[in-house]
Amino acid sequence: MLKTAVESAQAMRALGAALSGLLRGGDVLLLTGEMGAGKSELCRGIARGLGVEGPIPSPTFTILNVYQEGRLSFHHFDWYRISGPEELLESGLDEQIEGPWICAIEWHERARELLPERCLEIIIDRLPGGEGRELRFLPRGGFELPGLDRLIKEGSL
Ligand SMILES: Nc1ncnc2c1ncn2[C@@H]1O[C@H](COP(=O)(O)OP(=O)(O)OP(=O)(O)O)[C@@H](O)[C@H]1O
Ligand SMILES: [Mg+2]
Repeated sequence: MLKTAVESAQAMRALGAALSGLLRGGDVLLLTGEMGAGKSELCRGIARGLGVEGPIPSPTFTILNVYQEGRLSFHHFDWYRISGPEELLESGLDEQIEGPWICAIEWHERARELLPERCLEIIIDRLPGGEGRELRFLPRGGFELPGLDRLIKEGSL
């Protein structure tokens, strides 16, 4: 399994930016980790890497933030506050998951039914005694991301 350590919030954004260069339209990323793990920081890096210049706030209250000024559009979800899949279906937000953009979902566990089979799960855990995090990359449903192994090896554990 591909995994790497990330020592700071800045390093997390840098990793996100590097990762963004490998992503293609249609890619869906599931970000797994407790509150404050760094899911939004990673997404911030992805958005920056795609070319988003303005603020990249957490979508905790908006559920979805869409950025269209980058190399590819970026759909950043946070489902923490939703009650379940019905809420996304009723509002039509489920249609914003898969498409010719990059999609990243925080708190995806809230609506498993709506997740595509083929996606990349990224699990973020705190490392003891500091700001370090461990990231594990789990491709699902035959997801492939050429170049990811090389990117990860550059800063691997
Ligand atoms: N190595 C690190 N990687 C990412 N964030 C870090 C790291 N070290 C410290 N931090 C800090 O931890 C916090 C992570 O916050 P972030 O909003 O990204 O978490 P989150 O996983 O999105 O949480 P939530 O579930 O509440 O949305 C930020 O304040 C960030 O500066
Ligand atoms: Mg967040």
